[in-house]
Amino acid sequence: MARERKPLAVALAVALLLVGLCRGDVVQFIFGDSLSDVGNNNYLTKSLARAATPWYGIDFGRGMPNGRFCNGRTVADIVGDKMGLPRPPAFLDPSLDADTIFKNGVNYASGGGGILNETSSLFIQRFSLYKQIELFQGTQAFMREKIGGAAADKFFGEGQYVVAMGANDFINNYLLPVYSDSWTYNGDTFVKHMVSTLEAQLRLLYALGARRLTFFGLGPMGCIPLQRYLTSSGGCQESTNKLAKNFNTQAGALVARLSASLPNATFRFGEAYDYFQDIIDRPYMYGFNNSRAPCCTLGRIRPTLTCTPLSTLCKDRSKYVFWDEYHPTDKANELIALETLRKLNITVVSNGTSS
Ligand SMILES: *[C@@H]1O[C@H](CO)[C@@H](O)[C@H](O)[C@H]1NC(C)=O
Ligand SMILES: *[C@@H]1O[C@H](CO)[C@@H](O)[C@H](O)[C@H]1NC(C)=O
Ligand SMILES: *[C@@H]1O[C@H](CO)[C@@H](O)[C@H](O)[C@H]1NC(C)=O
Ligand SMILES: *[C@@H]1O[C@H](CO)[C@@H](O)[C@H](O)[C@H]1NC(C)=O
Ligand SMILES: *[C@@H]1O[C@H](CO)[C@@H](O)[C@H](O)[C@H]1NC(C)=O
Repeated sequence: MARERKPLAVALAVALLLVGLCRGDVVQFIFGDSLSDVGNNNYLTKSLARAATPWYGIDFGRGMPNGRFCNGRTVADIVGDKMGLPRPPAFLDPSLDADTIFKNGVNYASGGGGILNETSSLFIQRFSLYKQIELFQGTQAFMREKIGGAAADKFFGEGQYVVAMGANDFINNYLLPVYSDSWTYNGDTFVKHMVSTLEAQLRLLYALGARRLTFFGLGPMGCIPLQRYLTSSGGCQESTNKLAKNFNTQAGALVARLSASLPNATFRFGEAYDYFQDIIDRPYMYGFNNSRAPCCTLGRIRPTLTCTPLSTLCKDRSKYVFWDEYHPTDKANELIALETLRKLNITVVSNGTSS
């Protein structure tokens, strides 16, 4: 018996070591908006964009609100799971300490956040991308103190960086006439302004040590229920979709240019725009029943800023593409994440869990 067990034990130990080495302490640093927020805004108590009440999180863990603007997982959750990476906690999570950061990374994403500082100022509190990078610099200083400069440089140099931003710069800035950007720019000059700001931000992250970075492009944001509500036909807002496509083209070119020119940088552009559009156009082909209305609605009152405890939910959440006026459901996020990984040629190493 003992003789039979030994090779197995050795093989197991080697396998575990290999898994350990492959996974190392590679962690993620996530920068984004409500599509990636895992709780930061819940600690920004004055923010108008919070997912702190039911029915947010109803299909996640024990079903309690957890800060995600979704019934379940975000695209970044699923992409990370499939790559075998731990889910980083929210920067403002009070339990965040050096050990947690070392093992899990940090998520700085904040509902309402934009590439531009002024985006979503009506929400009162949110972390813009520049603010998130400032917070990241604070994390770096903190870790340097805890583990030393050389170990910190290695740790931050090996991390996977995710930046997923841009929708709010349109929805909660350029497209709202209360913001001066909406009359200062036209669509083309606004996208250029966004992309040149993004360039400075990605270069700053590189200067801070980021070498492996994925930027997630925008989806067909003219088809979110809120945008459809604003068209007389109930169809997608094509002018908004055009802005998203224009942004994706220019941001994709920027990411490719930076990846080619910055030493040791592997910057990738992840997106699933056409695929998401096809889900919206032909929901039945993907197992959905509704791609127009949000699953969470407040009677006939539309649009509502968030899903509320007074709202009612659709019968089958896995049949809806959209969870609320702005955000896709867990099921839609899963399909989008898998397609994004496929287009990036990333092999799925872990199946992940469903919450
Ligand atoms: C944006 O905000 C950051 C601080 O978060 C600041 O350093 C920067 O100068 C601001 N940029 C502009 C264009 O206002
Ligand atoms: C690029 O990688 C090489 C090998 O690891 C390293 O010696 C060099 O300092 C790196 N350069 C930059 C700018 O990261
Ligand atoms: C699908 O949608 C139709 C019309 O909106 C509805 O009558 C039907 O009950 C839905 N089916 C499911 C399984 O949700
Ligand atoms: C993925 O692989 C295909 C085919 O090998 C290639 O054409 C494409 O450029 C790759 N995409 C990325 C993002 O590396
Ligand atoms: C993940 O697991 C589920 C059920 O456990 C299975 O149906 C699915 O095919 C798996 N997916 C991958 C990518 O391994």
